[in-house]
Amino acid sequence: MSHDAPVAPETFAPSDEIRRNAVATQELFDRAKEDREGFWAEIAREYLTWDTDFTEVLNWSNAPKALWFADGKLNACYNAVDRHVEAGLGDRIALHFEAEDGRSEDYTYARLKDEVSQAANALVELGVKTGDRVAIYLPMGPIAIISMLACARLGAPHSVVFGGFSADALHSRILDAGARVVITSDGQFRGGKALPLKLAVDNAIAGGDTPVEHVLVYQRTGMDVNWNDDVDIWWHETVPNQSTEHAPVIVDAEHPLFILYTSGTTGKPKGVVHTTGGYLTQAAFTHKNVFDVHPESDVYWCTADVGWITGHTYVTYGPLVNATTQVVYEGTPATPDKGRWWQIIEKYGVTIFYTAPTAIRTCMKWGEEFPNAHDLSTLRILGTVGEPINPEAWLWYHRVIGAERCPIVDTWWQTETGGIMISPLPGITATKPGSAQRPLPGISVEIFDNLGEEITDETPGLLVLTEPWPAMLRGIWGDNERFNETYWARFEGVYFAGDGARYDEDGDVWLLGRVDDVMNVSGHRLSTAEIESALVAHDAVAEAAVVGAKDDTTGQAVVAFVILREEYLAQADEEGEGADLVATLREHVRKEIGPIAKPRDILIVPELPKTRSGKIMRRLLRDVAENREIGDVTTLADSSVMDLISKGLAT
Ligand code: WTA
Repeated sequence: MSHDAPVAPETFAPSDEIRRNAVATQELFDRAKEDREGFWAEIAREYLTWDTDFTEVLNWSNAPKALWFADGKLNACYNAVDRHVEAGLGDRIALHFEAEDGRSEDYTYARLKDEVSQAANALVELGVKTGDRVAIYLPMGPIAIISMLACARLGAPHSVVFGGFSADALHSRILDAGARVVITSDGQFRGGKALPLKLAVDNAIAGGDTPVEHVLVYQRTGMDVNWNDDVDIWWHETVPNQSTEHAPVIVDAEHPLFILYTSGTTGKPKGVVHTTGGYLTQAAFTHKNVFDVHPESDVYWCTADVGWITGHTYVTYGPLVNATTQVVYEGTPATPDKGRWWQIIEKYGVTIFYTAPTAIRTCMKWGEEFPNAHDLSTLRILGTVGEPINPEAWLWYHRVIGAERCPIVDTWWQTETGGIMISPLPGITATKPGSAQRPLPGISVEIFDNLGEEITDETPGLLVLTEPWPAMLRGIWGDNERFNETYWARFEGVYFAGDGARYDEDGDVWLLGRVDDVMNVSGHRLSTAEIESALVAHDAVAEAAVVGAKDDTTGQAVVAFVILREEYLAQADEEGEGADLVATLREHVRKEIGPIAKPRDILIVPELPKTRSGKIMRRLLRDVAENREIGDVTTLADSSVMDLISKGLAT
């Protein structure tokens, strides 16, 4: 746990203008308090178009597997696209696509409907049926969004794998989900370079152990690719030839919409399952209320990649279901220079901007001159997600980007919650730097002590969700037991989020970081166990322990402690060779998992600190990684180990 609430936090009340026109009202809280299920039923009908209305709101009889709106039927893509065209909004821009090289292209809702229908028809031609899983491994851009929506149109759950993940990571995700089709591109542009993507798909399926029959390949960079006529199909040779007519497949509210893999406390990523009706209800409701979206006038921009849950809920589904105009940017914030984001805001007149604390800290480091060189006066609302935001970064965001005019919504949620759970609401909340503040209407949050007793004072404890919510995960793909154990076993009948939290004197919630072996690096979840198993898979490594150490920019950084195998020890002692070995191991982790998992530091140590039962004491390693005095060592099996480690590192 890393964050302490400041003693007397300053608050920032919304301006009269924001207050007057705000979407969210206090009345929402009152309605939800009076009748939580009735509230969500109203929201579901208000925000979505149902093909068949539901009669049952929540069925919790088979807890912890919830059923929401179970006898209702709908289609997610119809709700995100078609119905807006039918309502006469076909000419409204859905996506302003900004390519990294500065080229841009607009997609109206009418165009989106045509292209999604064509993509859906192409998938049908490849044999994709309702219920089949489709893996999507694409760069950020309209084709990724179109691919997701085409799957949703067919009721074929998508499994988007972030383009920064390695072939091995992709392989295990394809295998676990049993995907028969993969949608990818030849490559992607990052930082001005064209990097391969299809190559990873080739490698992921080369072993022949996956069910993949077809790979649909979008040409993004024009780079050379290997081609297998039996498997590979070019997007441009099949999708544009298809009919622009396609009838969306109407599915049950509880039909799975997607699987998204996220890191847990063991090495194997979990396939979090979200279904259609409840997920979309909360996605649309939270998007509109938390970001105060006025779809006819706002230009919204969330910088997340669709490879993460934020990109699912607050790029693809929430904004489109609400008929929003949004910016989709392909590249990095520093291409061609560090003013790129601010230039994009100016170019499109962005009014709502949602990003991660780590990005804000990076921009702070780069300096105010970059944002100051652009006209950001269109901005109204700012948001953050992914980790606790330190008050210093909050205040910088408020002053430099928001000109002290824009409410900042610090939104707490998880892949598993599907949508925002705790956040200020523009027009209602006086915001407080560093605190996510209050649960949204219809959401029940409590803080428990270790024994499961509710804490009501300012003592730090564990965040739990005490009532089911519409967008809650319905399970872990293929692993019911893990679902029960991970979230529902710690405290009977309540959802354990894995985050520490405390109230302040005003009753506002402060998130304190993960309490388990999950790290948060640049807002991305990584498991210590996953990186440890990647390290021990290398010949040189006998044993490894990974910790998340505090880092000024990335929040946490990956720091690995490794014990070398005998035959590599001598090598590491030779002049310069130790450094080479460390570089090799860092590269190895990058190859095994992806660049985001590459350790910042790898320290070669003679021993690891363990308890008598053999559990690695990461707390002590974190002390070393953060250059702190080493804490209590009395529970170590051998208390001299920490001396050995410290001495080894000092020389
Ligand atoms: C952390 C991202 C503090 C938290 C949507 C959570 C946050 C994990 C916040 C989920 C926030 C996310 N304040 N911590 N506003 N938002 N977190 O699944 O530890 O990638 O459990 O979902 O990020 O990460 P995930």
